Amino acid sequence: MRLSIFNVALLSLLVLTACSKKEEEPIPEPIIKAEQRTYSESEKRYMAIGDSITNLVSEKLKAELMKAISEGGYENAIQFCNINALPFTSKVVDGTGMTIKRVSADYRNPQNKPDDLEDGVLFDYTYDEHVGEVPQPLLMKADGKLHYFKPIIVQSFCLSCHGTPGEELNADLYKKIKELYPDDLATRYKSGHLRGAFHLVFGDEGEKE
Ligand code: HEC
Repeated sequence: MRLSIFNVALLSLLVLTACSKKEEEPIPEPIIKAEQRTYSESEKRYMAIGDSITNLVSEKLKAELMKAISEGGYENAIQFCNINALPFTSKVVDGTGMTIKRVSADYRNPQNKPDDLEDGVLFDYTYDEHVGEVPQPLLMKADGKLHYFKPIIVQSFCLSCHGTPGEELNADLYKKIKELYPDDLATRYKSGHLRGAFHLVFGDEGEKE
């Protein structure tokens, strides 16, 4: 367990700046900045697998979302996401022993709320953004498993459902969102900013490393 000066500095910075709600929470699993990590050849292979799988999930989700929008507009697409986003995401790795999810500090679906490990990585990514660096994918071991994380960045297309209510996010649509997700936190995003992260956990393969 390594608690670096970086973590302490990061925590203080975030507490001081925006995240007062995090103040009472325990220090998350120590994370070092993704871009300072070095990887073995075998770890690089896992990174490449993680990259391919998360690309596949992103593309699939986006394609299905576009289809739902073109078939029945944004309201239909919200219903679609409500029912399908979680199963569509996990289906890609069904039967492989891996698990995959999308997490966000400002989540819409409470099932996408980060755990301590994920919170730590999102802290790291948020810090990167704060200092003007681009958050990077990373691979780490925790609880005897290999974990791959990749940042999810907001595109202008996402703002119709994750932008500012009454502006990019239509007020009526926002009402619908609140009906389905009364505690929705996933609005007021800006294009190019961090939305959350993919978290892929490798199964037995990862444990052998
Ligand atoms: C048609 C509306 C719509 C659009 C467009 C949309 N989203 Fe979402 N998004 C949703 C809904 C609804 C959920 C909740 C899904 C669920 O219940 O699992 C969600 C959930 C998410 C989550 C999971 C974390 C959370 O907050 O629960 C991420 C990450 C995310 N969206 C990113 C994006 C990104 C990136 C884009 C653009 C490429 C995008 N979304 C475009 C409606 C949308």
